Amino acid sequence: KVGSGLKDFIHIDDFDKETILKILDRAIEVKALLKSGDRTFRPFEGKTMSMIFAKPSMRTRVSFETGFSLLGGHAIYLGPDDIQMGKREETRDVARVLSRYNDIIMARVFSHQDILDLSKYATVPVINGLTDYNHPVQIMADALTMIEHIGRFEGTKVVYVGDGNNIVHSWLLLAAVVPFHFVCACPKGFEPDAKTVEKARKAGISKIEISHDPKEAVRGADVVYSDVWASMGQKEEAEYRRQVFKGFQVDQNLMDVAGSKAFFMHCLPAERGVEVTDEVVEAPYSIVFPQAENRMHAQNAIMLHVLGK
Ligand code: CP
Ligand code: NVA
Repeated sequence: KVGSGLKDFIHIDDFDKETILKILDRAIEVKALLKSGDRTFRPFEGKTMSMIFAKPSMRTRVSFETGFSLLGGHAIYLGPDDIQMGKREETRDVARVLSRYNDIIMARVFSHQDILDLSKYATVPVINGLTDYNHPVQIMADALTMIEHIGRFEGTKVVYVGDGNNIVHSWLLLAAVVPFHFVCACPKGFEPDAKTVEKARKAGISKIEISHDPKEAVRGADVVYSDVWASMGQKEEAEYRRQVFKGFQVDQNLMDVAGSKAFFMHCLPAERGVEVTDEVVEAPYSIVFPQAENRMHAQNAIMLHVLGK
């Protein structure tokens, strides 16, 4: 376990429960400070961060850049055409060059191997801003949002409805560290990675279920969670997926089945009318915007952690 180690934030289960909860506590503390208007806490003064994006982004780019700069640092955005990692230049060279300029490398990439290669060759902390495999900073923000709205983690039931994708893998890896009840309701053939499901089950602390029946799955949920049916890199499958995923749309009817205590969450961007209805996104039980805001606060705490601040 990396536990209290200083380098990298790549998978939630690289850390122990105590460290994850400590990072979330820190997020709450620094969020309160920033919300109070206090701008005197500048732990990243004189620090710089490269942000490599092989894919599009709104939340990840803006929340990392804003958070790092509010805490005194300077972040540099590198879009898909800028460094063309792995094409114009090998990933291991990118890692070693950027390590000589920057204090953190944050990257959003296609292949998970790319983030592992960055981590292997970088001498500064690498933060995973989404890969085809996982999205750990998103799930840290989601955990923070659940603590704020539900007040606890243990005993909660999170039901993800849709594709068994990178978001699901990060939920599973969180469930390997912090106890809760996680259900993934997905069409047959779109289950999350079997090894990751096994890992979460083997950890033996959370109840993990894979279901093909969203109505059965959501009963008694504290959170109903949705994501796009076609992730970045799969957009050419969007039409086909719309057919296969019929019956997995989160609508008012499904939220009624979930029950009155259920919140709706979505990592965004949402395709309204596809995986979720407009009515659900706009409903009083939808907490998608506080959730999006928490990206910045969770990541601030992650950056403080990896820099040992
Ligand atoms: N949720 C999320 O990562 O959003 P972006 O793709 O806009 O960064
Ligand atoms: N599963 C989505 C998440 C976007 C934040 C994707 O990878 O495109």
